[in-house]
Amino acid sequence: MFARRAAWDLSRNALALAVEARRARGAPLFDLTDANPTRCGILDGGAALARALAAAAADGATRRYEPDPRGPRAAREAIARYHARAGCAVDPDQVVLSAGTSEGYAHLFRLLADPGDHVLVPRPGYPLFEMLAGLEGLTTRGVPLHCTPAGFRLDADALRREAALPGVRAVLAIHPHNPTGAFVHPDDAAALRACCRAQGLALISDEVFAESAFDPPPEAGRLASLLDDRDDAPLHFVLSGASKLLALPQLKVSWIVVAGPRRLRDEALARLEAIADTYLSVSPVLAGCLPALLEARPAIESALRARLRANRAALAAWVAELPGAQLLPAEGGFAAIVELAPPEGAALDEEALALAGVERAGVLAHPGFFFDFDDDDRARLVLSLLPEPEPFAAAARALLEVVAEESRRATLRSPVG
Ligand SMILES: Cc1ncc(COP(=O)(O)O)c(C=O)c1O
Repeated sequence: MFARRAAWDLSRNALALAVEARRARGAPLFDLTDANPTRCGILDGGAALARALAAAAADGATRRYEPDPRGPRAAREAIARYHARAGCAVDPDQVVLSAGTSEGYAHLFRLLADPGDHVLVPRPGYPLFEMLAGLEGLTTRGVPLHCTPAGFRLDADALRREAALPGVRAVLAIHPHNPTGAFVHPDDAAALRACCRAQGLALISDEVFAESAFDPPPEAGRLASLLDDRDDAPLHFVLSGASKLLALPQLKVSWIVVAGPRRLRDEALARLEAIADTYLSVSPVLAGCLPALLEARPAIESALRARLRANRAALAAWVAELPGAQLLPAEGGFAAIVELAPPEGAALDEEALALAGVERAGVLAHPGFFFDFDDDDRARLVLSLLPEPEPFAAAARALLEVVAEESRRATLRSPVG
């Protein structure tokens, strides 16, 4: 009855069942996986949206429907100004709007690849890309990211090997990455561009978290700033959107900037426009709010950044007290990764840790395997840094206490313990 692309295993894992059971009992559960800013009291974006909507309601233009498949020109001009502030010259004609970044990916996958083709994604990573690729009949192939003392780095040899395989059409770079929070290192950016050029692949850089850097990055840290139209540049698509940038997931407005050698870029734009025209999924009314919202960005951004930094600093202090634990380095992003080395001779199971968190602390965190971390002897828990500081503090401390207890139990069970 159903297509292979929708033949997922929909059964729930032990963690999902434990969450469901706890909720059914009416027992409290704090969700430390929540990455929805509007549920975490980050509301400056919402206030700016309410003002922009009131202005739109007062404007007779909202009563007419004159769709532009690339999105309203005023919105694309505002997007070009946003990128210009980050040192990157973008023509509004290089911009195509989409109803969310996920839809932007779907458009790009349709533009670049046929069923059976592959896209390269950094691994570990957010499991969204397998779904998005699978729905277009594509598969993802992982390129490892390694945690080094200088932060997460792409395995450049693996990248070159994978990029040379038949059927590979595009390479994704997430900047900064989810969940590691690492910006793409300039040397890795150069390797990505060289590889895409050599193999004729498209580079897709997802920069939705670009403004969540704990310390604003030097411009050289931006992939978007590498946009160029020289003949030997790769075809490059930059994705961004209101959901993370403006902490406004409810707006459902995102965009794709198309860059690269002029002829190839213009052809890509014309085809992308035809795809967008097929759906016309972006509401011109909501997209019309974008200029005002991008103007309000500094206030939204500083509230967001303050929240991320405060929660991360608090978490770092508690993790430092936990033997065998470390907070993995990050430069931005909404998540933090607590990595645990097992006590000597013992093993720590990520799923068991996450389950103990739910059942004994009433706190839900993502186990590392959700993001496809290496299956090594370390256990990882991934926490959202968005919740309000007080409940975040209470939940993170309760979770870490349970983790410490689990670690002690593992020591006792171990042959050397
Ligand atoms: C790296 C990354 N890109 C894109 C998205 C989806 O963004 P949107 O809400 O605009 O579809 C997510 C969602 O968490 C994400 O982690």
